[in-house]
Amino acid sequence: GSSGRVLGIESTCDETAAAVVEADASGRGYILSNAILSQIAQHAAYGGVVPELAARAHVEVIDHIVARALNEAGLKLADIDAVAAAAGPGLIGGVIVGLTTAKALALVTGKPFIAINHLEAHALTPRLTDNVDFPYLLLLVSGGHTQLVAVRGVGDYVRLGSTIDDAIGEAFDKTAKMLGLPYPGGPEVEKQALKGDGDRFALPRPLKGRAAPDFSLSGLKTAVRIEGERVSPLSATDIADLCASFQAAIVDIIIDRTRAGLRAFEGVAGRPNALVVAGGVAANGAIRAALHQLATETGIKLVTPPPALCTDNGAMIAWAGLERLRLGVTDDLSAPARARWPL
Ligand code: KG4
Ligand code: ZN
Repeated sequence: GSSGRVLGIESTCDETAAAVVEADASGRGYILSNAILSQIAQHAAYGGVVPELAARAHVEVIDHIVARALNEAGLKLADIDAVAAAAGPGLIGGVIVGLTTAKALALVTGKPFIAINHLEAHALTPRLTDNVDFPYLLLLVSGGHTQLVAVRGVGDYVRLGSTIDDAIGEAFDKTAKMLGLPYPGGPEVEKQALKGDGDRFALPRPLKGRAAPDFSLSGLKTAVRIEGERVSPLSATDIADLCASFQAAIVDIIIDRTRAGLRAFEGVAGRPNALVVAGGVAANGAIRAALHQLATETGIKLVTPPPALCTDNGAMIAWAGLERLRLGVTDDLSAPARARWPL
C-alpha cells in the first residue's frame, strides 16, 4: 500500500520542474513522474543564468510543467497527499514562482504544504535512488554549491566544509568562458580535457592538505587565465591542454578535500554508510572515476545518483517532502522564499 504521494516543484535556478513521488508502506520511494524544462538555451547567449529572464520563464511554463507531472503520473490533484516546493536557496524571483504555485495548489486542495530547502533535497536524493541509510557523507558539487555535509537524519545536517569563493561548477563555467567554449562549460571542458595533456600546465591546488574540509577555486581560475594569456593566441591543442590541466587540478582538489571531509565526519557522526556525490559536476567522468578509487581504497560505498537526479529536478523536492511528511513535518502557507538558506 501507499504511505503517501507528494507533488514536488523546483524553480530555484534555471530548471522549471515538477514531479510526483510515492512511498510504499516500507518507506521505499518510487518516481511516478519527473517533468522538467531547462532554460539553458535562453541563458546561453549571456554565458550564465540571468535572474530576471529566469523568473519570467518560470512563470510562463510552471502551470504546464505541473500539469505534465500529474498527467505522466496518471493522477489528479485530488490523488496527491501533499504539495512541496523548494523555498530556497536560489534566485529569489524563480523561488517565489514555484513556492507560490505550490501554496496555491495546497490551498485549493486542502492538502498539507511543505517548504523544502533545495540543498536538503539534494542531500536526501540517495535515499530515493539507492535506499541509503543515515549517516552518510554528502559531497555536493554544482554550479551554485560546493560543500561536504554529514547527513545524520532528516533535518539533521552538519556542514563540514564549503567553498570560500567560487563553486566548482562555476569554476568549470568560468574556465570554459575564458577559453571561448559555450555555456554550460562543465561538459565542454570535460570533452576538451579528453584530448588534452593534463600535465602540461602546472596549476595550483588551493587548500590542499588543510584539515578543515573547505574548498577554494578562485586561485585556480586565475592561474588558468594567466597561463592562457601567456600562450595566447590559443591553438586547439592549447585549449585542450588547459582544460585537461584544469580538470586534473579539480580532481586532485576534490579527492584531497573529500579525504579531509571523511576525517571530519568521524568526529560528528562516526563511520559513514556511504559517500554520496550530487550536483551537476557529479556527471564528470574523471571526477567519478577518482571518487570510485577513493571509495575502493577507504572501503566506503560510493553512491552517485543518475545524472538526471544529481542535477536540479522535481523528484528530489517531492522525495524530501515525503521524508518530512512521514515525520509529520509540514509548513504554514506563510513560509517565506529565501535567497539564502544554509543547511
Ligand atoms: O546541479 P546543477 O545542474 O545546477 C546547479 O548549479 O544547481 O549543476 C550545473 C553545473 C554547471 O556549472 C555545469 O557546468 C556543471 O554542473 N557540470 C559539469 C558537468 N556537467 C555539468 N561540470 C563538470 N563536468 C561535467 N560533465
Ligand atoms: Zn541544485
